[in-house]
Amino acid sequence: TPPERIRNFCIIAHIDHGKSTLADRMLQETGVVEQRQMRAQYLDRMDIERERGITIKSQAVRMPWALDGDGTYVLNMIDTPGHVDFTYEVSRSLAACEGAVLLVDAAQGIEAQTLANLYLAMENDLTIIPVLNKIDLPSAQPEKYAAEIAGLIGCDPEDVMRVSGKTGEGVPELLDRIVELLPAPVGDADAPARAMIFDSVYDTYRGVVTYVRVIDGSLSPRERITMMSTRATHELLEIGVSSPEPVPCKGLGVGEVGYLITGVKDVRQSKVGDTVTSQARPATQALGGYKDPKPMVFSGLYPIDGSDYPILRDALDKLKLNDAALVYEPETSAALGFGFRVGFLGMLHLEIVRERLEREFNLDLISTLPNVEYEVTLDDGKVVDVTNPSEFPAGKIAKITEPVVRATILAPSEFIGAIMELCQTRRGTLRGMDYLSPERVEMRYTLPLAEIVFDFFDALKSRTRGYASLDYEPDGVQEADLVKVDILLQGDTVDAFSAIVHKDKAYAYGVQMAGKLKELIPRQQFEVPVQAAIGARVIARETIRAIRKDVLAKCYGGDISRKRKLLEKQKEGKKRMKMVGSVEVPQEAFIAALSQD
Ligand code: GTP
Repeated sequence: TPPERIRNFCIIAHIDHGKSTLADRMLQETGVVEQRQMRAQYLDRMDIERERGITIKSQAVRMPWALDGDGTYVLNMIDTPGHVDFTYEVSRSLAACEGAVLLVDAAQGIEAQTLANLYLAMENDLTIIPVLNKIDLPSAQPEKYAAEIAGLIGCDPEDVMRVSGKTGEGVPELLDRIVELLPAPVGDADAPARAMIFDSVYDTYRGVVTYVRVIDGSLSPRERITMMSTRATHELLEIGVSSPEPVPCKGLGVGEVGYLITGVKDVRQSKVGDTVTSQARPATQALGGYKDPKPMVFSGLYPIDGSDYPILRDALDKLKLNDAALVYEPETSAALGFGFRVGFLGMLHLEIVRERLEREFNLDLISTLPNVEYEVTLDDGKVVDVTNPSEFPAGKIAKITEPVVRATILAPSEFIGAIMELCQTRRGTLRGMDYLSPERVEMRYTLPLAEIVFDFFDALKSRTRGYASLDYEPDGVQEADLVKVDILLQGDTVDAFSAIVHKDKAYAYGVQMAGKLKELIPRQQFEVPVQAAIGARVIARETIRAIRKDVLAKCYGGDISRKRKLLEKQKEGKKRMKMVGSVEVPQEAFIAALSQD
């Protein structure tokens, strides 16, 4: 297809504003998918995605669309992942397009995620087509939200389209407008090939399927291609387009979007953002914007049943094939046994991986408190990267830095005070504030990532009665006054409970953990102190009182058989015990203490 006949676009929308429904409707309107074979939400493939109604992996689909009296165009719709953890993938999907449909629920208005993605689209110089969705809803307020959007992107409220993905109203007009308004792709057809990878997915039967947008030149089947970031070369076994089932083709030229199959088995060999070129006539310069995925949040993952360790290892190896951002290494804990230290893009990524491990591999897992990556500079100038509290150096510390994020919060203006208070307790710095309308405000904060990791979103929701929305992206590091708090049982550190926290919160963490363990650990024959300490300095203490006398004391009447039974019961209980120094702790106590309240 000549570039003049191609339009590449994506849809940016907040979760639940109806992106998948609209995408499905477009597939139907363009005749790509017939109504009767229409599976609900064609583009979201993973089960977890469908169940939770979120889109994790992006994909592209090609649709023909005829404009009255102007022949047929090819529309490539590139789906974008819908969550903050995947901002980088979103940015690559946007970079593969000339335009974006800005989709806003006509009963809800703009949300933080939409706004963040809109800014990304504007940075990529995309043409924006503003659209209100769900106009069939009785609660829709199209006038009000059209004005809000118009104010935001600087257009006329009349230019904001009104559609319903559900009834199909306005969808053909939207397809027309995409053709009319979006620029055709521009590229040099005679230059050496350059194609940008915007997604890559592992498929059990076909190996890695790589989705690309061709910028310059062309790619054809059977030629050898080079991944410019690694210089690795592969034979192009198949090249094709999704419509939405894969259809092999004779090649892809300037502006076209399609998939490549080379037989590689690991998405790490085909990374999002990388440039594909041809080995015979390679491009000299890669396309801009490539970044290696960088894990931001780390947590220990342990099988509750220690004999499941090999299953966990194999399961991680399998998931890794389809997840370029997942990193892990073996780790041992005195309290939890054998497990892995795993790095994730963020909390949703962590949740998804854990849920897949539990569901698809039938594992019961416990995870330690998530932490971010710190850089610790010692007095002697040595620098240590800490992704695990156990790596926190003991020497004299000159400086510690922690990652921060740039957060965007949208909420009704009545909640400004509540939000400021929350962000203050989370060590946030207000960067700016704008009114989208008299009732709605956008607040921009710099916040430590570590503070977001701990239930920030829940706290925000509860303080704003569910009305606030949040989006954030990594924004470098800042210096912070952090300490490592250890939890000790009778003087021995319980490794799984060590945490790196801000100095002002160390005491609260110590008291909370010591209190929890006191409740959960059964009494021993001797008194056991539970302490929280920073280095050698104890900051909190609880005591588990001795038990033995008490147990027997209960059988006052001197019934010897009952006494024996009790003692035997005690013994049985010891089987699943872990030893921490001389203290016996049932593993359940550790698990309960680590579980979220
Ligand atoms: P994520 O995949 O989570 O980002 O959600 P999404 O934006 O793809 O939303 P989805 O298409 O799953 O729609 C969310 C909800 O809104 C579903 O319950 C849809 O049935 C409903 N919905 C979508 N479009 C319309 C519409 O035009 N009108 C009405 N009344 N409901 C709609």
